[in-house]
Amino acid sequence: MTTTRQIQLTRRPQGTPTTEDFRTVHVDLPELAAGQVLVRNTHLSVDPYMRGRMNDVKSYVPPYALDAAMEGGAVGVVEESRSDTVPVGTTVLHMAGWREHAVLGEGEVRAVDAERVPASAYLGVLGMPGLTAWVGLTAIAQVREGDTVFVSGAAGAVGSVAGQIARRLGAAKVVGSAGSADKVAWLVDDLGFDAAVDYSQGPIARQLAGHGPFDVYFDNVGGDHLEAAILHMADFGRLALCGAIAGYDTPVPGPRNLMMAISKRLTLRGFIVSDHGELAGDFYRTVGSWLAAGELTHRETVMHGLDRTVEGFLGLARGANTGKMVIDLT
Ligand SMILES: NC(=O)c1ccc[n+]([C@@H]2O[C@H](COP(=O)([O-])OP(=O)(O)OC[C@H]3O[C@@H](n4cnc5c(N)ncnc54)[C@H](OP(=O)(O)O)[C@@H]3O)[C@@H](O)[C@H]2O)c1
Repeated sequence: MTTTRQIQLTRRPQGTPTTEDFRTVHVDLPELAAGQVLVRNTHLSVDPYMRGRMNDVKSYVPPYALDAAMEGGAVGVVEESRSDTVPVGTTVLHMAGWREHAVLGEGEVRAVDAERVPASAYLGVLGMPGLTAWVGLTAIAQVREGDTVFVSGAAGAVGSVAGQIARRLGAAKVVGSAGSADKVAWLVDDLGFDAAVDYSQGPIARQLAGHGPFDVYFDNVGGDHLEAAILHMADFGRLALCGAIAGYDTPVPGPRNLMMAISKRLTLRGFIVSDHGELAGDFYRTVGSWLAAGELTHRETVMHGLDRTVEGFLGLARGANTGKMVIDLT
């Protein structure tokens, strides 16, 4: 094979991205050099953080280049190899997503066990989103036995794992928020949340009344959710600031009640999962064993084919996913 398809960013989105900000192109595949492998991608990840990389601003990751392949988590199978350590047939995790094939150095891929769990799990529950939930609850919010925990964006990739991990770490009560009745029902009926609120049905601050006070808030949303959480936090509560998706396309005002952080003696701490690689071992052992034992529920919303990658990404901001949004190229 000599050519493959990839998706490129053609211009920097203003506000909400549209399909016109991307294009699909055919490109030539280079010959393999020594130590390189050709990977056929089977599953691509689309994630909210990618919106931030579309802006030309300094951040913890560099912006996406225009007219070059987008990047992101992906799982694939090695089809050709000039590496002694990564043979043909190996299932690998890497960052050359948004494309059908990638030529990568052996150091740019990590072999994963696709026998024990489906390969796509390494993009979700056993991947970066799952690790994010683990880091946020253990290292950042330090969930303790008996805590009352609120998770926003609770039916998404990170949130759905976070709620279940919180429970297993000893939380006495776990409350979630999500944007539809179906999602709220999934949280309570299948994931074991004690309660869940549908923020589309009225102000989140009002809906949370009676569910707190919260010792821990795992924030995936920011905006009105963060403000509502501050209102309903217990004294000395800990807030893990993981994401702020309500403001990714168009910034939203900060919480108007931030001064309550003083009177309640709150700790608000932001974090980036990639700073906490040292926790990955604990995470894989603990969450991997819960998963293998069938003690964790996870779900994927799957789009089929490279041509639906942009649609999958755009769907994240509209809540089109329950659990992890995955693009299946098989
Ligand atoms: N700090 C880190 O290292 C790190 C790592 C990974 C992810 N994150 C952050 O964690 C959050 C969750 O990421 P994810 O990958 O798990 O995505 P996700 O939750 O699977 O998908 C995004 C979800 O956000 C919700 N949403 C979209 N717009 C919203 C709004 N205006 N208000 C409330 N909810 C809204 C939607 O669900 P509804 O239907 O419920 O609205 C949607 O399904 C994101 O903010 C992401 O940036 C941070």
